Amino acid sequence: MSDPHDIADPSRAEAGAGRIAWAERDMPVLRGIRARFERERPLAGIRVGACLHVTAETAALMRTLAAGGADIALCASNPLSTQDDVAAALAAEGVGVFARQGEDDDTYYRHLMRVADHRPQLAIDDGADLIGVLHAARRELLDGVIAGMEETTTGVIRLRAMEADAVLGFPVIAVNEAQTKHLFDNRYGTGQSVVDGIVRATNVLLAGRTFVVAGYGWCGRGLAERARGMGASVVVLEVDPLRALQAAMDGFRVMTAEAAAPIGDIFCTATGDKDVLRGEHFDRMKDGALIANAGHFNVEIDLPALRERAVATTRPRADVEELELADGRRLALLAEGRLVNLVAADGHPASVMDMSFANQALSAEYAVRGAEGLENRVYVVPPAIDEEVARLKLEAMGIAIDRLTAEQERYLRSWSEGT
Ligand code: ADE
Repeated sequence: MSDPHDIADPSRAEAGAGRIAWAERDMPVLRGIRARFERERPLAGIRVGACLHVTAETAALMRTLAAGGADIALCASNPLSTQDDVAAALAAEGVGVFARQGEDDDTYYRHLMRVADHRPQLAIDDGADLIGVLHAARRELLDGVIAGMEETTTGVIRLRAMEADAVLGFPVIAVNEAQTKHLFDNRYGTGQSVVDGIVRATNVLLAGRTFVVAGYGWCGRGLAERARGMGASVVVLEVDPLRALQAAMDGFRVMTAEAAAPIGDIFCTATGDKDVLRGEHFDRMKDGALIANAGHFNVEIDLPALRERAVATTRPRADVEELELADGRRLALLAEGRLVNLVAADGHPASVMDMSFANQALSAEYAVRGAEGLENRVYVVPPAIDEEVARLKLEAMGIAIDRLTAEQERYLRSWSEGT
């Protein structure tokens, strides 16, 4: 039998277990689900293939699925986001882990194939790479997949495109679309962790700086709010008129990338699209500008256009690549243009991943229990799961809320009272 793991350093398992335990303290909803899964074993014998950022929070999800009886193989959803100590701890607990921080592209895809070799019945994805590989290279496995689950906006966009082209080979639950996921993880998680990543990478002071956020979806909103909270003057770039208007009325300056290029000190993309910052923008940026990305793939900054302008490159800090241009200006690319929050920091805090991964665990249970009824389409998370996650999170936070009186409920159902 081939080695069931490919990790950087098994000796770091103890450090990883400590880090996972620390994260789990802030994941009460997932802990509660895990306790129930231990009793009920809803995933008994189910082979799970997961392609997720290999972090302490992901480890808490893996432990929850394992408690439910799942047999798991895990690979990374980004070559730079793996926490090697966490990978070692999970491997020591019997999860098949194929992830090494800093793995090259060939290794990344080899690891995806190792997870495909596990013949997953549930495919849990972040960015749709695993589901993509199953459809492109392992089509014989599609019939065996009960359902996929997708964690992120970028992945859901891809899966909806597959659904529209009628090529989706199994049902997928868009976990990202749960309200208890995107309204919290994308907004507060990204907001805090991207600021954290930029600061850890550079130690830059945000106060008084012009911070340009490209994209005003939930991630961009969170980031703009938090950058403002740190004292930056925030500029928003948007292509959608409604979102641009919201950004303006939320008090941000809204302009084109061309107009923002010469005034920004820090640029961060969060759009899900490619070539958001391009050659014509780099040509106008100030000396010393910092350029980062918070979107899933490293395509939002046109990296070839940036690098071809460099006459010299230095690496003054681990996650900073400083490019000197022919005219003497220096532009600093953070985290190689990959997700700055997961490369230069720890990703979203555990408290918010608690809700995202509670949705994953409950959606896995839902898919296994209700599999026959699902077609090869992209489904939203059932509202009952969303409400349950919100209720459990409030309870864990010690927050009680009011209930409608019978009279109030009756009033809301009536159309004749109060005219
Ligand atoms: N995505 C963003 N933050 C994350 C985290 N902490 N763990 C797993 N996936 C993430």
